[in-house]
Amino acid sequence: MTILVTGGAGFIGANFVLDWFSQSGETIVNLDKLTYAGNLRSLASLEGNPQHVFVHGDIGDGPLVQRLLAEHRPRAVLNFAAESHVDRSIHGPQAFVETNVVGTFQLLEAVRGYWQGLDEAERSAFRFLHVSTDEVYGSLKAGEPAFTETHQYQPNSPYSASKAASDHLVRSYHHTYGLPVLTTNCSNNYGPLHFPEKLIPLMIVNALAGKPLPVYGDGQQIRDWLYVKDHCSAIRRVLEAGQVGEVYNVGGWNEMPNLDIVHRVCALLDELRPRADGQSYASQISFVADRPGHDRRYAIDARKLERELGWKPAETFETGIRKTVTWYLANQDWVKGVMDGSYRDWVAQQYGAGKV
Ligand code: NAD
Ligand code: TYD
Repeated sequence: MTILVTGGAGFIGANFVLDWFSQSGETIVNLDKLTYAGNLRSLASLEGNPQHVFVHGDIGDGPLVQRLLAEHRPRAVLNFAAESHVDRSIHGPQAFVETNVVGTFQLLEAVRGYWQGLDEAERSAFRFLHVSTDEVYGSLKAGEPAFTETHQYQPNSPYSASKAASDHLVRSYHHTYGLPVLTTNCSNNYGPLHFPEKLIPLMIVNALAGKPLPVYGDGQQIRDWLYVKDHCSAIRRVLEAGQVGEVYNVGGWNEMPNLDIVHRVCALLDELRPRADGQSYASQISFVADRPGHDRRYAIDARKLERELGWKPAETFETGIRKTVTWYLANQDWVKGVMDGSYRDWVAQQYGAGKV
């Protein structure tokens, strides 16, 4: 048996692929374009493993995807591939439309053709699992209930709008063609192999480098954090037992303001790798201009996934963030390897040359 994973060299995809092989002998065909966010170093431990078939390519390349499907005959396709960074979507939305919208459409078209050619038993067992985000639901006010699966879509950034469009396309392929789809909408992830342009890894990397820790606006925006391995276990569970056509929200019941997150990271670093001058890393916090259209609060109601499929996160924020900081301290080579020239160009564009 084989599954096809897209975007498996990115943060969540690579964690998923590594977790998969720790519990299953089933082959993964891993299709990834290796954008700045895709990194084969994250999969170095799989070198020489014949069960991991890496293919460098684009989900939007219909003929390539058709060939891979015909050759490997997967029982499922899991779509992690996306442009995923909100700030980049503000500076350059086109790539987000190309990959998240048009790419997902081309992938769905190739999968539809393959699926329609399967025999009846294979057709009913097949799954297309689309990995999406809570950001499609927009922003919550303080005190409003967390997002359920029926919350109205109100995306506010080019990133979340492009993910919303992809969710709608996936839904339509189920309702129109009967494609057996599953969609997961997850809250903010953190953990090992996270590219240091997102909040938590950026803070760790900058703190250790003695650089400012840039907090947008007042730092009181709230995100609902989930350890990445818990997201991976939720996806495995949905793939295994999810009801076709259904949407499952995935979250860790862990809402926290950004500034608190940064203080937690600093406190852990103070404990595990104290600064030579004895000061706290928190003294490096620097408030910077807010993100345009910055969503104030996300919160996921994950009760459906718990009730129907028995999934619960294994980590608390305390255990997960400790594992994360420890991983970054032990894996400085990985960090150096991903922070190449294109990373430095991005930092200069976003925060100003020489500032961060
Ligand atoms: P990421 O940016 O770290 O990785 C994306 C991966 O997709 C990279 O390996 C990249 O090379 C690949 N990719 C990009 N465009 C491609 C294309 N056209 N064809 C093939 N591969 C392509 O993203 P991530 O944080 O790992 O997120 C994975 C998925 O999970 C995304 O769909 C994202 O929307 C969703 N998600 C992320 C979070 C989060 O907190 N990171 C939360 C919820 C949902
Ligand atoms: P991010 O990790 O980019 O995820 P998302 O925007 O998808 O939620 O950002 C998480 C939160 O942290 C978000 O409210 C923006 C904020 N943030 C900062 O305050 N400073 C930063 O340098 C970054 C990258 C994010």
